Amino acid sequence: MNTLRQVFCIPLLFNSLVWSGYLENDQDVLIPEDWTDVGRVEPSEELELIFALKQQNVQLLEETLGLLSDPDSAQYGKYLSLEEVASLVRPSELTQKMVRHWLQSHGISNCLTVHTQDFLQCTMTAEAAEMLLPGSRFHRYTRDGHSIVRSSAPYSVHDDIHQHLDFVGGLHRVPPRGKDLGKKQRRSKAGLHLGVTPAILRTRYNLTATDVGSAQNNSQAVAQFLEQYYHPADLAEFMKLFGGTFQHLSEVDRVVGTQGGGKAGVEASLDIEYIMSTGANISTWVFTNPGRHESQEPFLQWMVMLSNMSDLPWVHTISYGDDEDSLSTAYMTRINTEFMKAGVRGISLLFASGDSGAGCRHMDKQQNSFRPSFPASSPYVTTVGGTSFKNPFKVTYEVTDYISGGGFSNVFKMPDYQASAVEGYLKTVAATLPPQSYFNTSGRAYPDMAALSDNYWVVINRVPVPWVSGTSASTPVVGGMLSLANGQRLLKGLPTLGFLNPRLYKLKGQGLFDVTEGCHLGCLDEQVQGKGFCAAPSWDPVTGWGTPNYPALLAALLTD
Ligand SMILES: *[C@@H]1O[C@H](CO)[C@@H](O)[C@H](O)[C@H]1NC(C)=O
Ligand SMILES: *[C@@H]1O[C@H](CO)[C@@H](O)[C@H](O)[C@H]1NC(C)=O
Ligand SMILES: *[C@@H]1O[C@H](CO)[C@@H](O)[C@H](O)[C@H]1NC(C)=O
Ligand SMILES: *[C@@H]1O[C@H](CO)[C@@H](O)[C@H](O)[C@H]1NC(C)=O
Ligand SMILES: *[C@@H]1O[C@H](CO)[C@@H](O)[C@H](O)[C@H]1NC(C)=O
Repeated sequence: MNTLRQVFCIPLLFNSLVWSGYLENDQDVLIPEDWTDVGRVEPSEELELIFALKQQNVQLLEETLGLLSDPDSAQYGKYLSLEEVASLVRPSELTQKMVRHWLQSHGISNCLTVHTQDFLQCTMTAEAAEMLLPGSRFHRYTRDGHSIVRSSAPYSVHDDIHQHLDFVGGLHRVPPRGKDLGKKQRRSKAGLHLGVTPAILRTRYNLTATDVGSAQNNSQAVAQFLEQYYHPADLAEFMKLFGGTFQHLSEVDRVVGTQGGGKAGVEASLDIEYIMSTGANISTWVFTNPGRHESQEPFLQWMVMLSNMSDLPWVHTISYGDDEDSLSTAYMTRINTEFMKAGVRGISLLFASGDSGAGCRHMDKQQNSFRPSFPASSPYVTTVGGTSFKNPFKVTYEVTDYISGGGFSNVFKMPDYQASAVEGYLKTVAATLPPQSYFNTSGRAYPDMAALSDNYWVVINRVPVPWVSGTSASTPVVGGMLSLANGQRLLKGLPTLGFLNPRLYKLKGQGLFDVTEGCHLGCLDEQVQGKGFCAAPSWDPVTGWGTPNYPALLAALLTD
């Protein structure tokens, strides 16, 4: 252990030699300051770590996703079962054997695998983990009554194992703080609407009373990772107050994971109440993972779960993100592969674009740049931004919500499906773009579309609460409408929409209300003065292609 700690003092010259055992060189290992280090864990304490085994045929998986999600391909919608995904990506015999042998030689045999055999979740003592992963030192950290166990230093793996693993989960990434779903108080005016409700959304997006789910085998889900819970009684109360005008369900069909007790969270209530309002009368699941074990990464746990369930809802909405620059490329690349595995199964993953506009990263000296967030910046998911009504007291057209996350990835290159749309934007607004040093025009640009994100009513702990805002509101709203479209497709015997982006970008805005006004937040510095990007006609990195005009979008999504 001591010799390994010295490694960090060796000059850069030797890095390629001694760091060869590190799987995640670029992972941020600093625990955010709001967590308190309460000391090293006892050697005998049990940890749960996840080993991401190197998969086969990842290139082929990507090509397959391209074909299955391209409406002009003969393969469109010919989705794979979990079994078929497993035979494609399952790690080689050698990889499986090497990893198991390595674990066993450290006395680690308590492992669960998944259907695709590309993850192993193992229980071991802290002592065994530190022997297995030289460099790791497990500490307990607490914040607001929650505690986690993470390593205070980077881990390495034996050279023989290096090529067989993508990364080990449970050492570094910490759950982000629940977002402040800010309450921007506004004056009221008599006779005009005060905040977004299901009825307001259904009016704005042209959903009629008959636009509710009716297909037998349709389903949708929200996934939550912030130790927040929805309360069934809140959902029931919400639907009693706000669900009067349309046929809906008032109960969740299935909760996967552990629902904690205690107070309901705003975020959790918001997600479930609104996906069930646009995606009305559609069977809805909640994936909730309060981090049953202190050493778990809840988001990763969810990804592992998807690889182990053959029967999943078709649409998942997720309000979760980290700064792209805090995550290792190895981790993000592997998570992208997991997104592809879902996509080839016909599953749509929708992520909130974030609530900090373009974001801001303070680089060295006086230099700032924008700060993309992941998974919003993944080329393999559909990312949803946010808008406000032009007049907050009326159902008017929509403008940018200044918090709407958007920008360009610094890690993932721009996927083909969006190249011409983004090029068009960069040309149109060339004269008014932020300085080039703030963003990377060769990266995956997001969001892909948007919906209202400002000023929602939510029922929490039995009380209706106004002024809830964020892209965690717009994402389930879009997800519900995508589910409705899926339902109509299923009734026609068509496959589900799956990974939507290739099709969405081919529509070139058809079926969407283009958002062309307003800018989102950026760095508060002299150069950009708080401004990121601005909306413009057609696609833009603030609101994507715009917000759904449901009947027109449905027509465009029902053609084949
Ligand atoms: C995956 O599911 C199987 C049962 O189908 C179960 O035995 C196994 O423990 C699960 N794996 C994980 C990681 O939970
Ligand atoms: C949908 O809503 C818009 C604006 O609210 C309206 O102009 C339009 O006529 C509506 N109907 C359709 C089918 O687009
Ligand atoms: C609600 O969905 C069920 C199928 O899950 C369907 O039988 C029923 O007709 C739907 N209700 C309406 C009003 O379409
Ligand atoms: C879809 O239908 C299949 C077969 O009829 C059934 O086993 C499954 O539970 C349904 N899936 C969902 C997610 O509702
Ligand atoms: C810009 O993005 C590309 C990938 O699209 C990446 O290779 C490059 O390093 C990025 N540049 C910066 C300055 O982050």
